[in-house]
Amino acid sequence: MNSMDRDIARVLLSEEQLQKRVQELGAQLAHDYETLNPTMICILKGAAIFYTDLLRAMPVPCSMDFMAVSSYGNRTKSSGEVEIRKDLSTSIEGKHVVIVEDIVDSGFTLSYLSRMLKARGAKSLKLCTLLDKPSRRAPGITLKADYHGFEVGNEFVVGYGLDYAEKYRNLPYIGILKPEIYENE
Ligand code: IMP
Ligand code: MG
Repeated sequence: MNSMDRDIARVLLSEEQLQKRVQELGAQLAHDYETLNPTMICILKGAAIFYTDLLRAMPVPCSMDFMAVSSYGNRTKSSGEVEIRKDLSTSIEGKHVVIVEDIVDSGFTLSYLSRMLKARGAKSLKLCTLLDKPSRRAPGITLKADYHGFEVGNEFVVGYGLDYAEKYRNLPYIGILKPEIYENE
């Protein structure tokens, strides 16, 4: 057990469960996008680990691009505001676009990004998220992911890209943090 493992109360999704589901999602995307040469957009930083596994599980031509948006900072609740910190480096006009995200919580981030990327003239736009917390959508947000790995409850999770205060992203599994780690905020 390493020093990060010691902060985890419970493993929610094991490395094996994650890898199996990512292979399935990759196969589904490969089937749906076989001839469409999609632009796969990684939302940094949380989706980075999922994204690199997903793209290797998706053996069809596609291009990669990256975007960074504001996150929770060191807090565990969304502010409802989205700030673009790093924009795409390519044009998505006329392209089939898939946004790859780590988790949809309130839905603010993805509904904002979807609107913005549609306005830039994407030919189609779909959302692929590893985790979905459907019970946490903010009032008035009806966002649904076109592809999702797992539904999770109302718990704060870390690992496989997801952080708490920039830590735990490199855990190979997803776990629930011990409450004492963040309860002193
Ligand atoms: P939304 O805009 O509320 O849907 O927030 C989505 C973003 O919040 C994700 O991309 C994550 O960066 C972050 N987030 C939401 N829930 C969690 C969690 O349980 N653990 C880590 N990050 C989370
Ligand atoms: Mg994120």
